Amino acid sequence: MTNVDSDAFVFFGATGDLAYKQIFPALQAMIRRGHFDIPIIGVARSASGLDQLRERARESLEKHGGLDRDAFAVLSARLQYVNGDYGSQQTYQDLRKALGGAARPLYYLAIPPDLFATVIEGLAKSGCDKGARVVVEKPFGRDLASAQELNRILHQSFDESSIFRIDHYLGKEPVQNLLYFRFANSFLEPIWNRNYIRSVQVTMAESFGVAGRGVFYEEVGAIRDVVQNHLLSVVALLTMEAPTGRDPDALRDEKQRAFRAIRPLTPADVVRGQFEDYRQEKGVAADSQVETFAAVRLYIDTWRWAGVPFYIRAGKQMPVTATEVLVELKRPPQVVFDSIPRDQSNYFRFRLGPTVSINLGGRIKMPGEVMVGENVELTLRPRAEDEMTPYERLLGDALRGDPLLFNREDGVEAAWRVVDPILGNVTPVYPYEANTWGPVEAEQLMSSDDRWHNPQSAEEA
Ligand code: BG6
Repeated sequence: MTNVDSDAFVFFGATGDLAYKQIFPALQAMIRRGHFDIPIIGVARSASGLDQLRERARESLEKHGGLDRDAFAVLSARLQYVNGDYGSQQTYQDLRKALGGAARPLYYLAIPPDLFATVIEGLAKSGCDKGARVVVEKPFGRDLASAQELNRILHQSFDESSIFRIDHYLGKEPVQNLLYFRFANSFLEPIWNRNYIRSVQVTMAESFGVAGRGVFYEEVGAIRDVVQNHLLSVVALLTMEAPTGRDPDALRDEKQRAFRAIRPLTPADVVRGQFEDYRQEKGVAADSQVETFAAVRLYIDTWRWAGVPFYIRAGKQMPVTATEVLVELKRPPQVVFDSIPRDQSNYFRFRLGPTVSINLGGRIKMPGEVMVGENVELTLRPRAEDEMTPYERLLGDALRGDPLLFNREDGVEAAWRVVDPILGNVTPVYPYEANTWGPVEAEQLMSSDDRWHNPQSAEEA
């Protein structure tokens, strides 16, 4: 399909968690910016009517980002509701009616992954798929085989240019800045390789638990929820070669190569953990083996990265909420002055959230008669502006048909290929106390030279 704008926005899962936390705020923000004036249709299975959906939208905005009276009035007036079971053809006939004359609707599947195929089939059987685009939430599949199957089902009705596999991390400014910073500064490239870089760490810590999403979390766990998508994408952006042009596929080609170069994980490369009260959460099995923490060590088989360990860690109920990348450089070859600390004297620290900065760690001499130094950081902070949220950015892109920040079929499958061997409880899940950095077993993934870097809280960073 050529890049014509979509003329209706339809979201399945209108009464769900994602709509509540992300979609309504994104819709209000798009209306406020004034470039969004198409019908908005929510589809859900729960019995509530349009008035209740409007009420839910209001509540969602009050809790997430704030209600803008004027924009909400527009949203509320433009909102339509289709109520029905996703397996019933009646739902799609009702949707067809609600779409009126729309010829290029965008469907957003903000629903549990096990319903994707049912909805796609329903759209196809009713002819609602004609001329349409589809946004599919993550996790895209449960493993490599199911991702391939989902791609097959999608391709029966939609061509690749009409499929938008969303990963909201790619819509984040600091994540895009990883790529920008690397390729817009000439001082980085000479050292961005195994000759100068000792190791790379990515930590995504969250100080809360599964926050009422026990049922969803039981189906995924940390590896499927954030490692396969958000964190492997961060690794790809850190390690890929420069795209050969501005064409979206030039970028996605390089990302795909980066994913393919990551060596598939083995059980020895992973430590899984579960916070102590997880099994008491609503919707969680009493003997659940699902991980709320995962630490992995991976290697990238390219000339640039051979031998450099990448350590990735994600966990719930950690001491802080922070996502950070630490790229540690090799130490100076000889000790000339005072002894330099074992770790973290020369590094790049990319703080991706909730505060955002790029920090370069170095050593300088402390004032005084002796040649003794201290660690200091040079900090680059982007300007704080009225930034779009990732969902606003990505939904706007999908409505215009811009695929740059979405995952391509081959990229998503290549990322599953990396984690596939460690899925299915092939490794033990160790308990850990809330407010700690996960099970001590995660230390064992580190070489004797490395240790985990624990990000600081937003107040301290
Ligand atoms: C989501 C995961 O994709 O990302 C959640 O499902 C996680 O478990 C969230 O909390 C984190 O996103 P952000 O943007 O708040 O860092």
